[in-house]
Amino acid sequence: MQNLSRVREQIERLKIERRAIILAHNYQPGEVQDIADIVGDSLELSRAAASADCDVIVFCGVDFMAETAAILSPQKKVLLPAADACCPMAEMVTAGELVLLRERYPDAGVVCYVNTTAEVKAESDICCTSSNAVNVVNSLEQERVIFVPDRNLARYVARFTSKEILPWEGFCIVHDEYTPDQIREARRSHPEADVIVHPECRPEVIDLANHIASTSGIIRHVCSSKNREFIIGTEVGILHRIQKECPDKRCYPLSDRAVCRNMKKTDLQKVHAALLHLSPLITVPDEVAKKARAAIERMLAV
Ligand code: 13P
Ligand code: SF4
Repeated sequence: MQNLSRVREQIERLKIERRAIILAHNYQPGEVQDIADIVGDSLELSRAAASADCDVIVFCGVDFMAETAAILSPQKKVLLPAADACCPMAEMVTAGELVLLRERYPDAGVVCYVNTTAEVKAESDICCTSSNAVNVVNSLEQERVIFVPDRNLARYVARFTSKEILPWEGFCIVHDEYTPDQIREARRSHPEADVIVHPECRPEVIDLANHIASTSGIIRHVCSSKNREFIIGTEVGILHRIQKECPDKRCYPLSDRAVCRNMKKTDLQKVHAALLHLSPLITVPDEVAKKARAAIERMLAV
């Protein structure tokens, strides 16, 4: 295996040659976050992909994120260094199932979480992320809203809207595992700490938290809060960025087992190989991309 500083140098050189930028999600391994041009949550990375002045986007994350970038920037090459990095929740609803649901509730608006396939986005009225889901739902004219695929995010949104939310029964295999007992236990160990969790957690976990936010929202909250100690209820990769941005704060993971295996499939060698071979390339068929783009752009305008 090549020495890591040599791989980093080659990545920097190839980035210039290819006119590439590297985007990394907050859950990526530390070594990948450290070479990225932008590290962020799903919404920030979608915006960055749409506005980046480059020919190539190396998307260090999972497949639906790279697909979203490809939909927003059809003229750019979008690479997913770990070709098999997927989000199991995004596989929990299909476009065919959503079409049937729409037929059953013709008066309902359809909101899809960004953690969905391009085909599901193409059958939705509007997309959302964890940081804008409430605003997106409230922006719709319909009083009834189908929300796919995350039942936990759907129920979280339902707390902040008068609309009737019809949740799909999908969930994140990482966040759905947190329990109220873990929060009680963590509070006993760290009585001064605030508990911050992601809205993909179950309602009974959300009920016990001090603050709920997207991944970047969690980082902003920790950095700006007067408190010095936090229990973090989201994937453990986020701790790397928190430590870098606010080293004076002490953060404890709500569970050491909260690891998204798909987010950990990317490493420096794969980023280097992707830039060298311009592969694995993520593409979305034109017809699907056109309809999915409308749902994503409608979200970006909210
Ligand atoms: P964020 O949009 O909050 O970064 O969440 C993405 C995700 O996959 C959470 O599990
Ligand atoms: Fe998907 Fe959950 Fe991993 Fe996020 S943490 S990418 S929702 S499996």
